[in-house]
Amino acid sequence: MKELKIQHIQMQFLGGAEDTEVTREIEELSESIRERGLLHPLAVQDLNTTPPSYMVRAGRKRLRACEMIGHMEVPCVIVSGDEKELKLIQIEENLRRYNLPWWEICEYVADWHALRQEEKGIAEPKKGKAKRERPGHSMRDTAAELGKSLGFISEAIALDAAVKRDPVLRKIKDRDTAIRLVRSAAKRIEAELGAEAPVEFAINQVYNGSATDILKQFPHSSFNACITDPPWLKYVDEKLTRDDDTVPVFKEVYRVLKPDSFLYMFVGFEDFRSYSRRLPHFGFTVAKTPLFWVKKELRVVFEGTPPVQDARAKLHGVVISKGARAWEYSRDFELILLAVKGSPSLTHSTQQSSVLVYPPLPPVKLTHPHEKPIKAIQHILRDCSHEGSVILDPFAGSGAHVEACESLKRRWIAIERDHTAYEGIKKRMGKK
Ligand SMILES: C[S@@+](CC[C@H](N)C(=O)[O-])C[C@H]1O[C@@H](n2cnc3c(N)ncnc32)[C@H](O)[C@@H]1O
Repeated sequence: MKELKIQHIQMQFLGGAEDTEVTREIEELSESIRERGLLHPLAVQDLNTTPPSYMVRAGRKRLRACEMIGHMEVPCVIVSGDEKELKLIQIEENLRRYNLPWWEICEYVADWHALRQEEKGIAEPKKGKAKRERPGHSMRDTAAELGKSLGFISEAIALDAAVKRDPVLRKIKDRDTAIRLVRSAAKRIEAELGAEAPVEFAINQVYNGSATDILKQFPHSSFNACITDPPWLKYVDEKLTRDDDTVPVFKEVYRVLKPDSFLYMFVGFEDFRSYSRRLPHFGFTVAKTPLFWVKKELRVVFEGTPPVQDARAKLHGVVISKGARAWEYSRDFELILLAVKGSPSLTHSTQQSSVLVYPPLPPVKLTHPHEKPIKAIQHILRDCSHEGSVILDPFAGSGAHVEACESLKRRWIAIERDHTAYEGIKKRMGKK
């Protein structure tokens, strides 16, 4: 080890001295060097010139920090070798620093792996051969050389690629959060690329019959999402319990959904509780809180006593929830239960609001008593699917979901048990 004059040491470009992250790190380093001195010597290459000059191979930031606090000399180890060897030494040196941010560790690991593959070639996949018979360099080799696990290395390389695509990721403080974000971004890309994959059945079809029976005809893993509005489990005024017909449909829905996929269901309060309990038995994970479809127009307060308010509301094409008493607030929203098969990613990288605000259809325009507005369904479709994605609605009613799918270039399958409603959907879609 030698003390060398800083003025004799050359430094390659520091990846953007204007970069605020780098500047902040150098400031922190200079503080620590001021307090505790320089703990690791720099690695430099002798350029064999007169007067003497050296090139920094490891420790550019430390050199900059020493310069900043007015040091004239720094302790250095002189290294030699060809360009690749020197780079490897540089990486090894850098990886030894204790306060490296996660993304820099990933960058060094990825650089190490790339350099070694450049040198030795890319290892062929296993195919039963023992390692010594397989030439080339694998991630396992990088893991052994750097003394890390294979998982650590493959994650570091994936993270480095993600940071190169999106440098903003460097702002994330901890590696685990970055890994979570990168994994969900990877799933998003995978879903987008896979959306238009061919399917084994005729698409954009409406079927008349019981959803359980019809879904049995579909292969496993056929749909990217199911957006639906099942009949209430209990029709209070009809003494009719539909559980026998309705709940088993979701066992089939789970089977025909792809491994990472979404289920959205418009539900009432009681049904939200009931499905939250029952859907996990079929394999679904149910979000603890629902989404809220806020029916914008119903927020209007009409003047007068309740009967007059009611009449005025009707005049504006607004439905007041039945049985509302003077002390009750208007029920101007509906719940949307969200459940998933596997662990899909929403199409947006930022967190979405759980509140969807769309006016309901005025009663005069309803073609089905429970028809949902196209815009609300389009909103959900944009959140969970891509052009070409295959969407299922096993309780199709008026076919509003089908129209929303067509408008956003999603492929679809609709099922409706009621023959009149089924004919209505065909008419709506211009099908004979
Ligand atoms: C609440 S409505 C759906 C309304 C729809 N979201 C819309 O916007 O028009 C439920 C529909 O599911 C149908 N249905 C009920 N049980 C069914 C079953 N087992 N299989 C298929 N369709 C069913 C009903 O006939 C009804 O039209």
